Amino acid sequence: MQALFLKAIFVTFVAISSAAIGFGGITSNFVRTEWPSVDIPLDHEAFAIPEGHNAPQQVHITQGDYDGRAVIISWVTPDEPGANKVYYGTSNKNYGHSAEGTVTNYTFHGYKSGYIHHCLVDDLEYDTKYYYKIGSGDSSREFWFQTPPKSNPDASYKFGIIGDLGQTFNSLSTLDHYMHSGAQAVLFVGDLSYADRYLYNDVGLRWDTWGRFVERSTAYQPWLWSAGNHEIEYMPYMGEVTPFKSYLHRYATPYLASKSSSPMWYAVRRASTHIIVLSSYSPFVKYTPQWRWLRDELEKVDREITPWLIVLMHVPIYNSNEAHFMEGESMRSVFEEWFVHSKVDIIFAGHVHAYERSYRVSNINYNVSSGDRYPVPDKSAPVYITVGDGGNQEGLAGRFRDPQPDYSAFREASYGHSTLEIKNRTHAFYHWNRNDNGKKVAADSFIIHNQYWASNLSRRQLKKHHLVTIEGQTASI
Ligand SMILES: *[C@@H]1O[C@H](CO)[C@@H](O)[C@H](O)[C@H]1NC(C)=O
Ligand SMILES: *[C@@H]1O[C@H](CO)[C@@H](O)[C@H](O)[C@H]1NC(C)=O
Ligand SMILES: *[C@@H]1O[C@H](CO)[C@@H](O)[C@H](O)[C@H]1NC(C)=O
Ligand SMILES: *[C@@H]1O[C@H](CO)[C@@H](O)[C@H](O)[C@H]1NC(C)=O
Ligand SMILES: [Fe+2]
Repeated sequence: MQALFLKAIFVTFVAISSAAIGFGGITSNFVRTEWPSVDIPLDHEAFAIPEGHNAPQQVHITQGDYDGRAVIISWVTPDEPGANKVYYGTSNKNYGHSAEGTVTNYTFHGYKSGYIHHCLVDDLEYDTKYYYKIGSGDSSREFWFQTPPKSNPDASYKFGIIGDLGQTFNSLSTLDHYMHSGAQAVLFVGDLSYADRYLYNDVGLRWDTWGRFVERSTAYQPWLWSAGNHEIEYMPYMGEVTPFKSYLHRYATPYLASKSSSPMWYAVRRASTHIIVLSSYSPFVKYTPQWRWLRDELEKVDREITPWLIVLMHVPIYNSNEAHFMEGESMRSVFEEWFVHSKVDIIFAGHVHAYERSYRVSNINYNVSSGDRYPVPDKSAPVYITVGDGGNQEGLAGRFRDPQPDYSAFREASYGHSTLEIKNRTHAFYHWNRNDNGKKVAADSFIIHNQYWASNLSRRQLKKHHLVTIEGQTASI
């Protein structure tokens, strides 16, 4: 994998760099193979129920504090509350410590959830493998996870980015490929189970199957959650009108650690990265809690310690697909200026079931009375990447706007996931990996220079923003 990648770097650096000929974005016409967009049947082994009475299932972990020394371990027991403890330690089967969690349950129409446990395990050592055990007796289950290194500007770390996953055979393909990527944590950009595509009691059942489906990864490494429209579940026809009810009961986030007032938006620091999670479906206009929180959180970012600044949201701000076109405009008009002034490195989003990457552009000069109305090249702007291509039952969004707008660098309607491999304070390797005939193919790859540390390395000319990738070749931005 490493060797392959190095080879890719040296193959060709492609520069379509003249301002005179414009940007020259690429629309890949790759012809994909895919499974039908239907959910995996309930009796499939991907949803297997662990053996034993009341055995813990749907095990998932997420970062539990601001700095990476804690995890929240969550699981569901189906029959009775059962034990609510996590036993953990640094050697297998020999757990020196335990922590006590909380348990909750909810109803959704006629569905009654299992007992949902959330347990904070904190005061961990950095960069250490921990083993943990949940459940009791014959039904107990054991897993492990690795804590990140203490934050320092050159800490290397590999993230996976997955969005709009669902529970089809395409979802399974994405997850399998991801699990061979060597990435250490997932940045999840919203739309988890697509359970809201079902009616009545099946909604709850499909949240349970999804929890069991992703457990193969989520029990062993943190997935950092953000919410999408499929989490809203405003379903008045069945008397369910509390937004995000299933999501909030099941998926915990460490929002208090970043002084957020809601689990829907929060931030964490992990290795050399400061990650900000926003909610596209919570109020964000001026003076709202999310707006005030983001303003304060951006002040806390210290690029001397965490050089990499990444933002996650569900709805993309720069999208050129017919699907969900312009839906990100409201958030763009409120936050884009902050993203540019804070020199955010990358903004990841989902929602659109395709892959797309932007150039570094901004559209912050326009106001209702004057100013340019167009996105323009801006070396302080983030790269916007849409990875809503996890593989859910709604299928691919295959209709891109024609012609390709100037802000769009690369787009392709295939399923896949991305990885961001941070090497040090100046360099990271990025890949988008398409699911292709059961193989994982790196279809869009580049070296990304840090917006804070690399800006002084050399007066990197504005030209660099016009560098593009074409398949099998690597550029740098
Ligand atoms: C939660 O579980 C308890 C104990 O089984 C039960 O009495 C209660 O009705 C459940 N609550 C909900 C909201 O389902
Ligand atoms: C609106 O844009 C014009 C031209 O860029 C600028 O001079 C003016 O200050 C802007 N007004 C506000 C309120 O941002
Ligand atoms: C950072 O990583 C890149 C890519 O591996 C390498 O070329 C560069 O020399 C590194 N910089 C430092 C300061 O170590
Ligand atoms: C980059 O250069 C500017 C102006 O010379 C300086 O203020 C800033 O501290 C430098 N940044 C880094 C990371 O060295
Ligand atoms: Fe969505």
